[in-house]
Amino acid sequence: MRVLVTGGAGFIGSHMVAALLARGASVSVLDDFSTGKRANLPADGDLTVTEGDVADPAAVEAALSGCDAFVHLAAVASVERSVREPLVTHRTNLQGSIQLFDEAARQGVRRGLYASSAAVYGDSAALPLAESEPPRPLTPYAADKLAGEHYLAYYHRGGRLNATAFRFFNVFGPRQDPSSPYSGVISIFLDRARRGAPLTVFGDGLQTRDFVYVGDVVNALMAALAVRAAPREMPVYNVARGERVSLLDLLDAIGRLDGIAGPLTVSHAAAREGDIRHSLADTARLREALGWEPRTPLLAGLAAILAE
Ligand code: NAD
Ligand code: UD1
Repeated sequence: MRVLVTGGAGFIGSHMVAALLARGASVSVLDDFSTGKRANLPADGDLTVTEGDVADPAAVEAALSGCDAFVHLAAVASVERSVREPLVTHRTNLQGSIQLFDEAARQGVRRGLYASSAAVYGDSAALPLAESEPPRPLTPYAADKLAGEHYLAYYHRGGRLNATAFRFFNVFGPRQDPSSPYSGVISIFLDRARRGAPLTVFGDGLQTRDFVYVGDVVNALMAALAVRAAPREMPVYNVARGERVSLLDLLDAIGRLDGIAGPLTVSHAAAREGDIRHSLADTARLREALGWEPRTPLLAGLAAILAE
């Protein structure tokens, strides 16, 4: 099997590429290296890397050639950037997605997986969030992710692709880049704790998130790739542990890890504008459909990051 992984040089993408190669697949990566890094990818005879833009028709056509499936992870993943530069991020996050879906349908690529986001739910208070909850995208990033789901469902319904969309919650793990203030909180906290630098909690620290380890996300994608049956409506799955963790709990867990530079120095600052208070997924649909279970608890995932 040959699989195109868009955004394969990024955080989640590089783990997906490694899992595919380990299963004996041949992999094509399309990445513009805007946030992804070549160093995230192994040298492997079964891996072809194309530097290019997912919104560029020629680059997508070439990268898809000979593939049986695609896993579409390329995106400007920064919500904050989508707020500052909605047209720039829209080009990648929606135009690039349509470009890929349309070309895949044209080339007869059978299977397609798409990275959507918990952001499509907005700040819904109906916890735990089931996929049936009406979406309420609050940012350009979320609006594009949701529109991407709708476009993919359109190709699926017409029988032109066998597609599945995944709403990732807060993914964490090795290779998540901590360098921006809007990077995932776990990558920032661990990077700082390791160096003995101070940590800032925005707000009271009682806000909660549903953190899911990148290896578990990859397992869900791998399980879905093996599915041949195509239900009439495109499946949409939450990907999360189904557990809420407050930032104070997270700090407590980090403070007990080996590999940090002494006791944590923590200060509080004003809560971020628009910050979601609580986030928690109902993961029953994914568990039932794909027999998926999250295997890596928070502490084990944190330790894996420090061990890299
Ligand atoms: P990432 O930034 O590490 O990966 C994105 C990759 O896409 C990078 O390698 C980047 O260089 C590439 N890319 C960006 N624009 C591109 C373009 N125009 N053409 C080709 N490649 C391009 O982010 P990630 O956390 O690995 O996210 C992967 C996917 O998962 C994204 O679609 C993101 O929106 C989604 N997602 C992530 C999370 C999370 O918690 N990390 C949560 C929800 C959804
Ligand atoms: C995450 C996703 C976003 C998605 C949203 C859906 C990341 C990077 N972002 O946003 O794509 O739209 O879920 O729910 O995964 N915080 C601190 N100190 C810091 C950094 C963050 O206190 O140094 C706080 C934030 O204010 C927030 C929490 O930690 O309350 C989590 O922040 P973050 O990791 O940026 O993710 P989300 O905002 O949940």
